[in-house]
Amino acid sequence: MPDNKPDITSLFEPKSVAIVGASHEPSKIGYKILENVIRGGYSGKVYPVNPKGGEILGYRVYKSILEIEDAIDLACISIPAPFVFEAVQQCASRGVKYLAIITSGFSEVGNISEERRIVEFARAHGMRVLGPNIFGIYSANASLNATFGPAQIRKGNVGIITQSGALGIAMMGKTQSENIGLSAIISIGNKSDIDETDLLEYLGSEQNTRVILMYIEGVKNGEKLVDALKKITKTKTVIVIKSGRSRRGAIAAASHTGSLAGEDNVFSDIMRQCGVIRCETISEALNLSKTVPELALPSGENTVIITNGGGVGVLAADASEKYGVNLYSDYPKLKSLFQDCVPQFGSTKNPVDLTGQATIQNYRDALKKALEADEISSVICVACETALFDVEGYADLIKNSFDQYRHKKPIVFSLFGGKKADECIAILRKDGIPVFHDVYDAVFCLGGLYRQLGNLKKPQSAEREVMVDKARIQEIIEIARRDGRRFLLSAEAHAILEAAGIPAPESRIARNLEEAVAFAEEIGYPVVLKVVSKQIIHKSDVGGVALDILNKEEVIDAYQSIINSCRQHMPDAHIEGVEICEMVEPGIEVIVGARIDPSFGPVVMFGLGGIYVEVMKDVAFRAAPVTPGEAVEMISEVKGYPLLLGVRGEKKKDINSIVDCILKMGMIINECREISDIEINPLVVYDDGEGARAVDARIILSNKEVKK
Ligand code: ACO
Repeated sequence: MPDNKPDITSLFEPKSVAIVGASHEPSKIGYKILENVIRGGYSGKVYPVNPKGGEILGYRVYKSILEIEDAIDLACISIPAPFVFEAVQQCASRGVKYLAIITSGFSEVGNISEERRIVEFARAHGMRVLGPNIFGIYSANASLNATFGPAQIRKGNVGIITQSGALGIAMMGKTQSENIGLSAIISIGNKSDIDETDLLEYLGSEQNTRVILMYIEGVKNGEKLVDALKKITKTKTVIVIKSGRSRRGAIAAASHTGSLAGEDNVFSDIMRQCGVIRCETISEALNLSKTVPELALPSGENTVIITNGGGVGVLAADASEKYGVNLYSDYPKLKSLFQDCVPQFGSTKNPVDLTGQATIQNYRDALKKALEADEISSVICVACETALFDVEGYADLIKNSFDQYRHKKPIVFSLFGGKKADECIAILRKDGIPVFHDVYDAVFCLGGLYRQLGNLKKPQSAEREVMVDKARIQEIIEIARRDGRRFLLSAEAHAILEAAGIPAPESRIARNLEEAVAFAEEIGYPVVLKVVSKQIIHKSDVGGVALDILNKEEVIDAYQSIINSCRQHMPDAHIEGVEICEMVEPGIEVIVGARIDPSFGPVVMFGLGGIYVEVMKDVAFRAAPVTPGEAVEMISEVKGYPLLLGVRGEKKKDINSIVDCILKMGMIINECREISDIEINPLVVYDDGEGARAVDARIILSNKEVKK
């Protein structure tokens, strides 16, 4: 398709909008969209289109798009699917830039060819397509509500991109009831052309948008998405909800919009790599979207909890650990700060426990201390409603403290109690104050703020130039392709590791017994002998492997027994020789893999070997290529990481060697796109400074036409 795409601003800030299928009937979608555009205060030109002509809501109705003489930036199409293509052709002849196709009945129900026909035609004529199967677009900058959702949308700092239309409309309603202001909300539906990344590019640079919330079912072009997210999260908070976490959910998502739900753990890890906050539920995501624009970024990592109840204080502490909020633990300092506000049977240790008899004055004093102390960077203020507790007084205190300190220090509140507490929370939340029933919700939002701070402060890990001999790797691939193979032989895999500079045990291929002995003597004992044959994949099953060979006599015995056993088990196999391989010293076994992921393209994987990967699935993924900093994060993320730091008096392992291997694997998978899977298992890692050895590697080529 030609890349003559119009500027995305014309979609979000069109100067003129045509509504194709603007209905005379108020119950129809085409009427509702026109009504929302008009009532929403859109200041550009509006052109309703309907073959019946006449007038709707005081606007002249054009019988055809062809009748409109002015330029049209955006055409919203809401007519039945069989008529859409013709309308798109007419839009092309009028130089329309963007099409928002509301209509359902395309790829989501298997009508893929018609959807493709429309998109190909549109792109060939310089138009871009949002949808089909969408509720439309709301954009605050243009006061444009071209949706069939709620008529009134509050303007604000949150931009929402949603793959599900119904959920998006419901979110519009929810943002209204929660008083969350939107900078935009856009439905991407079948993503036939415009996808979330195209929209992110606008929202990422649009100055009113501080938070971007995405609901995604499946990622199609993950490489593009990763690039955009990595840039945007440096300045904005990006929150994602991805359905399809469970197996059932993934199947439902795949059939929902005709897109594939990527592997969930890959998605999660890559989102973390990009600095995106993944929420599990819509309410988490909306809470965070509402809270982030209201709070100042913390200046440091010292958080204090103020509570009137031990239990809820402990819950707040648990939540802090869960959501990455660090509690201030300078106990002498805490004591000197809070001893005057805490009764003798309370506690100045963090949580600062004012006890069940806490008065509003106690809270006021403690809050003032916490909010004014330079050492304290953020505050979690929680309260349980008791018979003694003045709920309204607490609500006033919340409001006053928040108003006074909101731009200086982040503070979140929780109030757990009965009807009176609920009423106070509802009033405070209307004013945008981050107060929650559940202390976990409050701490989650503060945790989100710290994640954002982490993104901003994250040192830019310099990309390390990793040299891999691409020409040599291509030569090896060509040999396999010529043989019609997608699986590389062990010697070929070994040669690829060598071309990438990944240390592997020394090995040679002996064509006869004399060579076998000579090579073993050269390499040095102990050695391993392995049969080399394209037909023998599972060598051990046919007696094709001999380990721990200690001298010349043993080489002779092992060589002969390998040849005899393989001939006996697989008489038709062509035996090319026997590989004589250095037997590596034991160390910690890890796995480093890389593959082309269907959603994200090249990804790398790291895990500890054996049961850690097989049973516990204790692995980490990243989009490739990775920086050294990202490789270090991957390694430290797995649960078995302490084993690499050295346990029970063992020395720390050579983590730099693993980093090096991950970088090189990332480079191979990114640069040599004919390789679809490469896995080193095990990479044996030695003590710090002593390196690592890739003992075995498995390489699979992509399923492209085999070259003859
Ligand atoms: N140009 C302009 N107007 C036209 C054309 C045309 N080529 N052809 C028909 N029209 C007019 C019709 O005359 C009609 O106007 P009228 O009511 O004044 O007679 C109007 O366009 C609408 O056409 P209808 O045939 O009445 O179609 P209807 O409105 O019932 O349905 C719709 C059209 C809404 C696009 C439907 O086909 C559809 O796809 N519905 C699903 C939409 C949807 O859910 N999208 C996903 C949203 S996200 C979510 O899940 C919530």
